[in-house]
Amino acid sequence: MKNKIIIIAALLFTGIIFFSFFSNKETGVTNNTKVLDILVKLGQDKPLHFIPSTKLSDEKVKMGLELVTTGTTEKDGKKVKIQSKHFVCTDCHNMQIEDPDLTKSDPEARLDYAIENNLKFLPATTMGGVVNREHWYNDDYSKKYGSLVEPARDTLENAIQLCAVQCSQGRALNDWEMEAVIQYFISIGHEVKDLKLSTAERKQVVTALNDGVKKKETLEMLNSKFLNYSPATFLKPMKKDKRPMGKYGNIENGKKLYELSCLTCHEELGVTNYKLDKSSLTFKHLKFWAGRETFLSVYNITRKGTYALNGYKPYMPNYTEERLSNQQLEDLIAYINNSAN
Ligand code: HEC
Ligand code: HEC
Repeated sequence: MKNKIIIIAALLFTGIIFFSFFSNKETGVTNNTKVLDILVKLGQDKPLHFIPSTKLSDEKVKMGLELVTTGTTEKDGKKVKIQSKHFVCTDCHNMQIEDPDLTKSDPEARLDYAIENNLKFLPATTMGGVVNREHWYNDDYSKKYGSLVEPARDTLENAIQLCAVQCSQGRALNDWEMEAVIQYFISIGHEVKDLKLSTAERKQVVTALNDGVKKKETLEMLNSKFLNYSPATFLKPMKKDKRPMGKYGNIENGKKLYELSCLTCHEELGVTNYKLDKSSLTFKHLKFWAGRETFLSVYNITRKGTYALNGYKPYMPNYTEERLSNQQLEDLIAYINNSAN
């Protein structure tokens, strides 16, 4: 009898330990828990691209990473056909978070962050957290390119496909490649630590998950911690006679912009035949054209970009106001002028 009681008690005890272990695991929130997983658990509609992060396959994530950074990967021991001969996704997009405050798209803060974290400063928005957005190709992209970007506005897969073909000037991804890229993007989705929650907010998340308390408020709170789309305002190039020509520019910032942005594409091994470097000849050339109404002017090229031509596909994307402010443009010109002497 006594033995039986001990056995039952022991079983109960292990049961309790087991139960609490698993229930903890079920709702445990760590720094690395994916925000999208939490939102879906709290009842937010699942986006079409949703895969719980626990279902990711390491192999597919790796294939996705290789596709976006090198344009190819291996399947069944064979290299797949290069996605684009002209670009890889990372020529224009970072893959890491690039905004220190995820509720703002602030190019000044982004430059400081890029310097600190050794990131490029690129014309297109990062894919870090792209799975946490709800619309893609926003504002002026949809205003100006209407029917072209319409299908890409509301689904991430279409946005990726549009960019693979139009932005990268390459081929569309096939089904398994798309799955790999989406899995990789899910793997770089926002994590709890990125939202910089206060202790109370973090507790609120745990209670909402565990006890179903204040789910709606918690969803709202979490969604207020990051932008669910990447804003985009197109600017016209400043008119010739209005250009301050770097008078109010910060040379140090200009140098960083030149290095972390322009040179990444225009340096010797970059995507274009139009080479830029740090020689005084180059700076004299840029300085000479800056004040004129031509594509060779930094004022014009940054706001308008160029277009892919039949015979020459590499082109330069324009910088929106959110990706390069007018002040930063002045910084860049100030640096160019200063280096042209
Ligand atoms: C030549 C530059 C360039 C290349 C290469 C490029 N993109 Fe883009 N991409 C852009 C621009 C410009 C946009 C417009 C919106 C933005 O990101 O600012 C964009 C938008 C996107 C968006 C929507 C982002 C949003 O939040 O609106 C996705 C997703 C995307 N690209 C994925 C890719 C993938 C995947 C590749 C590689 C297969 C790729 N891009 C290659 C320039 C490029
Ligand atoms: C994503 C890659 C990329 C980035 C970033 C980039 N460019 Fe370009 N740029 C190009 C491509 C591609 C062309 C197309 C011209 C060519 O290859 O002949 C071009 C063209 C130009 C031209 C005009 C040349 C011509 O003959 O039409 C200038 C000037 C220029 N870029 C300056 C800059 C400056 C300044 C920056 C930094 C603010 C910059 N670029 C950033 C890719 C880029």
